[in-house]
Amino acid sequence: MFSSRIPANIAPNRLAEALRAVHAEGRPFIDLTASNPTRAGFSYPPDLLVPLADARALRYEPSALGRADAREAVAADYARQGVSVPPARIVLTASSSDAYSMLFKLLANAGDEVLVPRPSYPLFDHLTRLDLVVTRPYDLDIHGAWSIDFTSVERAITPRTRAVLVVSPNNPTGSFVRQAELDHLAALCAPRDIAIVADEVFADYELEAGAAAGAGRAASRRDVLSFALGGLSKSAGLPQVKLGWIAAGGPDGLVDAALERLELVCDTYPTVSTPVQVAAAGLLQRGAAIRQQIAARIAANYRWLRSAVAGAPSCGALRSEGGWYAVLQVPSLASEEDLVLELLTVDGVLIHPGYFFDFPRESFLVVSLLPPEASFAAGVERVLRRFAFIGSRP
Ligand SMILES: Cc1ncc(COP(=O)(O)O)c(C=O)c1O
Repeated sequence: MFSSRIPANIAPNRLAEALRAVHAEGRPFIDLTASNPTRAGFSYPPDLLVPLADARALRYEPSALGRADAREAVAADYARQGVSVPPARIVLTASSSDAYSMLFKLLANAGDEVLVPRPSYPLFDHLTRLDLVVTRPYDLDIHGAWSIDFTSVERAITPRTRAVLVVSPNNPTGSFVRQAELDHLAALCAPRDIAIVADEVFADYELEAGAAAGAGRAASRRDVLSFALGGLSKSAGLPQVKLGWIAAGGPDGLVDAALERLELVCDTYPTVSTPVQVAAAGLLQRGAAIRQQIAARIAANYRWLRSAVAGAPSCGALRSEGGWYAVLQVPSLASEEDLVLELLTVDGVLIHPGYFFDFPRESFLVVSLLPPEASFAAGVERVLRRFAFIGSRP
């Protein structure tokens, strides 16, 4: 009766089941997976959302790609990051998931392929499948720092490849796609009519000095059809407001053709409310106060993590250049699944296993850097304590 866009098995995994039981029993635990900024102890001014009540939104004047003033505000926000994008190349969306869906409709027929980084964001499986697109992985390699394994990209490309997805900085590896890497990808994609889709939702969050400046930005490309994704969800810590955007880059003729077609998609699925479009400029401006709090929190937690792990001989914290996550490497005493179940049920700490993100091997754990400093430190200490006996000298 139901389509196979939705996986046949949608039963919760063992970790989700264990978490349900912990909740049901009312047992306290520290959540090192927390990624909802509105519940992480930041101070949101109570009147932050006042721009949403602007009376200009009482009139409905549909505009498929978005209101001109909102698109100008997004272009100004790119300028703040040092990226020059004309407002005409901005398309408003409700979220980055919405943006992916529009781009898949624009670029891919049923069964066409997009390349996705590995490790990366688990939502890609659903996002692609729901739009009848097939994923083919390419690898990110770690040699001190993460970088794109271009041999795996070339191996993954087929005549059905329509786009290469990059996430910069990536969730969870924290690696920015460097300018030289984006140049290399562009040289592979442009002659094959493959577009680049760059999820830059975490672009504002740098953890290692200089990493953001060295990153390539998709909207600045002139040589290959490219789409950069951003949104208030991360840049202003406002996931509930539902405002995201696409910034197009590439040769003028191709970008114009893409925007004409996106206009048809957006006209058919108008997802962005008028109040949020009217409020966009004000929210982008006011959101800076939240962004600064988030940036300070993740930087403090990242620094603390690196120093705590330096004192734990058997564990490592990989270098994270940006974003809201960090990766711990721990001894493989048990499977990642057993380890995270024990950490939850015995130690009272919830943490994501690397296999959720398709790490090539065990044992990696992914921590969110968003929790308040004290609970972050307590949670990480609980994880490290589990391995404290290894490598310690008598
Ligand atoms: C890489 C990445 N892209 C997009 C999102 C979600 O963004 P949005 O709330 O705009 O859909 C997330 C959320 O964690 C993410 O990690």
